Amino acid sequence: MGKAKEQGFSAEKIESYDIHGFWVRIWKLLEPSHKQIGRLLAVTFCLELMRLVGPYILKLIIDLVTNFSAAEASLMLAYVAGMFLANQATSLLAFLQDKKIFKILVDVEVYLYSDAFKKMMSLSLGYHEKENTGNKITKIQRGLTKIDELLGNFFWEVAPTSLQLIFTAITLFVIDWRFGLVIVVFAIVFVLLTIGINKAVYPFRKARFKMEEEASGNMTQAIININAVKSFVQEEREIGFFGMIRDKIRKQILFEFGKILRQNLKRNLVIDSGRAFILISGMYLIYQGNITIGTMVFVYTISEKALLSLYRISRLYDRIMESAEAVDRLYYLSLEESDIKNPKHGLKPKSLRGEIEFKGVDFAYADSSLKALDGVNLKIQSDCVTALAGPSGGGKTTVVRMVYRHYDPTSGEVLLDGKNIKDYDLKGFRKFMAIVPQDVEIFSASIRDNISYAKPHATDREIRAAARVANAEEFIAQFPEGYDTLAGERGIKLSGGQRQRIGIARAILADPRILIFDEATSSLDSYSEKLIQDAMDKICKNRTVILIAHRLSTIRKADKIIVLEKGKVIESGSHHELAKLDGGLYQKLLQLQQMGDVD
Ligand SMILES: Nc1ncnc2c1ncn2[C@@H]1O[C@H](COP(=O)(O)OP(=O)(O)OP(=O)(O)O)[C@@H](O)[C@H]1O
Ligand SMILES: [Mg+2]
Repeated sequence: MGKAKEQGFSAEKIESYDIHGFWVRIWKLLEPSHKQIGRLLAVTFCLELMRLVGPYILKLIIDLVTNFSAAEASLMLAYVAGMFLANQATSLLAFLQDKKIFKILVDVEVYLYSDAFKKMMSLSLGYHEKENTGNKITKIQRGLTKIDELLGNFFWEVAPTSLQLIFTAITLFVIDWRFGLVIVVFAIVFVLLTIGINKAVYPFRKARFKMEEEASGNMTQAIININAVKSFVQEEREIGFFGMIRDKIRKQILFEFGKILRQNLKRNLVIDSGRAFILISGMYLIYQGNITIGTMVFVYTISEKALLSLYRISRLYDRIMESAEAVDRLYYLSLEESDIKNPKHGLKPKSLRGEIEFKGVDFAYADSSLKALDGVNLKIQSDCVTALAGPSGGGKTTVVRMVYRHYDPTSGEVLLDGKNIKDYDLKGFRKFMAIVPQDVEIFSASIRDNISYAKPHATDREIRAAARVANAEEFIAQFPEGYDTLAGERGIKLSGGQRQRIGIARAILADPRILIFDEATSSLDSYSEKLIQDAMDKICKNRTVILIAHRLSTIRKADKIIVLEKGKVIESGSHHELAKLDGGLYQKLLQLQQMGDVD
């Protein structure tokens, strides 16, 4: 687990309104854009100052008109020209601002996306097995959409209006402290009211998020497991359940917004009162002869804008609350670190002998109290076929994962050619290995691309040769489009046995020093398996081969068989040695398979 846990990330943290922390996290995520954001804010600053100039010139004009004298006609024209220029400058700055905002938004989207994908690719298998696929993708996409929304809102609405508010307040104080006071007091009341509303609505909002998550989780599960849903005729129940949650969400939203809308009445009251106070103070000051009518118009114009912009700022609050969780998740993903540390100057051997040794290896999967491997000592010689046998859950696949260093032992060590596997560069040694896993992973691409996945530039001849050895050529030829046939998502258009044979061809084409078959022929009929076995005898020469199979007939020819049960090595030796071992597990399994007439 990476830093996420250490930092104690939980929903409660957001509930306690860690807005400051939230900004810090966003700021860190946006690191590559810091300079650009700085420049943008400078433009916004100028723009908002400029926006005061137009109304100020208007004030000058009005003052001039109220005491009109022909002598000042040219001055008036100059004012009009000044106003025109000020408006043009404003429009130019606004254009610059928009351009910069768009640039930032586009950049942010690009680098956050690629960073997230890079992260996904670099995180260890341990992370990926812990999180479900739908979650990971939603996490990235939702996080990004929300950040984009939030930034757009911030740059277009909040930053400008906040500056506007500050400038307006200062200007008003300069004109007359009474105006300044009115604006400041009403702004504060408004902000407090907004915070209050959000606090009141937050629990409901949170409940809604939970329901939404539940609804989408449910939908994903039903769609992923559509086969089971249909086979067991559970469509109605799934639809009903989904509809029920959505209905609850609908009610929740209506309730939530009802609350907010009622609060809006209060917010409007504050704004209207602000307006009234500005007018009253204005009239009083004119009556007293303290200000001119022009000043009054100026004050009213800018304070009107400032009061209205309060509304916009309050929307940011809503947005933060809407997106905080999604953004935080993206942030914590960026902190997530692979459990498997790649050494800085790891060994990158030119070749490997392919000798593997486990010395007192203990291992337990995260969140599991059971040891998947318990004091395992074993040796896998090079240029030999070593088989792993034993009951389901015994730890065979786990052994292979240690060889790949998808996981590190809790104690003990795994040696590769006599050196600790942790001293090797990850890619440096993995490139000498190939595996046909228990569930062959098929990409939604052509059969050709699937076979050549580990060797994208393989020639047609090489691909065909590998397919022939894997006994796949025959079924591929039966497809009208041959090697160009699309395998469908997760290989849905292929049978289990066909998928396995593609997996075998892929591993063979990779031409590794260490070749691992994890139940690679379990879905094949005995005849196909026999064909592959014959071929394997050929390809297994001059390699280290690890063979896992439940069918003991598959492994009887292996040079060495290691029997694992409950994470412990309980027997090892050749088929003949183990078959003779009275009371041994291998013997028992052998008898069972023979009795049951299992091949
Ligand atoms: N990703 C995982 N997370 C937690 N526990 C796991 C994980 N993978 C396997 N286990 C547990 O580790 C133990 C060993 O599993 P492993 O997959 O190595 O067994 P196996 O010998 O390959 O079994 P099979 O013959 O059924 O493939 C099992 O008890 C299993 O429940
Ligand atoms: Mg297994």
